[in-house]
Amino acid sequence: MASRSGVPERIRTSDLLLRRQSLYPAELPGHLGLTTRYDLITGMAKQILLIAHVPSNNTQRLRDAVLEGARSDDVDGVDVATFTPFEANAEDVLRADALILGTTENLGYMSGALKDFFDRIYYPCLEQTQGLPYALYVRAGHDGTGTCRAVASITTGLRWRALADPLVCRGEWQESFVGECRELGLTVAAGVEAGIF
Ligand SMILES: Cc1cc2nc3c(=O)[nH]c(=O)nc-3n(C[C@H](O)[C@H](O)[C@H](O)COP(=O)(O)O)c2cc1C
Repeated sequence: MASRSGVPERIRTSDLLLRRQSLYPAELPGHLGLTTRYDLITGMAKQILLIAHVPSNNTQRLRDAVLEGARSDDVDGVDVATFTPFEANAEDVLRADALILGTTENLGYMSGALKDFFDRIYYPCLEQTQGLPYALYVRAGHDGTGTCRAVASITTGLRWRALADPLVCRGEWQESFVGECRELGLTVAAGVEAGIF
């Protein structure tokens, strides 16, 4: 499992932003189809940031499954870092080519942890991350719609792009959730590798 200290600091975010600003017209959103050219310049692997709230064994299993899929041997040139929402910060988001967000539904809304993450990164990321592709999965005991709606509202404000409809692992625990989350991670990583997001 990657930890905060385990994330490679190959290049500083300020360097990345300078490169973006000098290479692309200011009116172009930073994440719209530019990742391939960007990688040619830096020689860096593309970065997926998995931010998952994991308050239970089941939610840890979902996070681990997403991670396993995203780190599949079938995908090359993609690094995946994972943090809890409380650990992740705006610099992590600015560094990412795509995000995967995972949360429980609590009281009809996303977890307080994920909301705290959005509260902290919203304005620091607002100008730089328009078009950032993201995927969402939700572990919901019986619903999940309030969480999907709330995340969509915030990400619309940020102008991030949903890669797919949210994956909602709803109701009693089912082992099939694990495979669905693995598939989600693999799909995002394969898309990032191919540069299609
Ligand atoms: C305080 C609290 C509020 C919850 N509210 C909701 C809710 O509004 N909708 C829902 O679908 N599940 C709700 N749940 C269930 C959680 O989503 C579920 O317990 C969590 O995803 C962990 O799943 P697990 O038991 O499989 O580990 C709530 C759980 C707690 C502890």
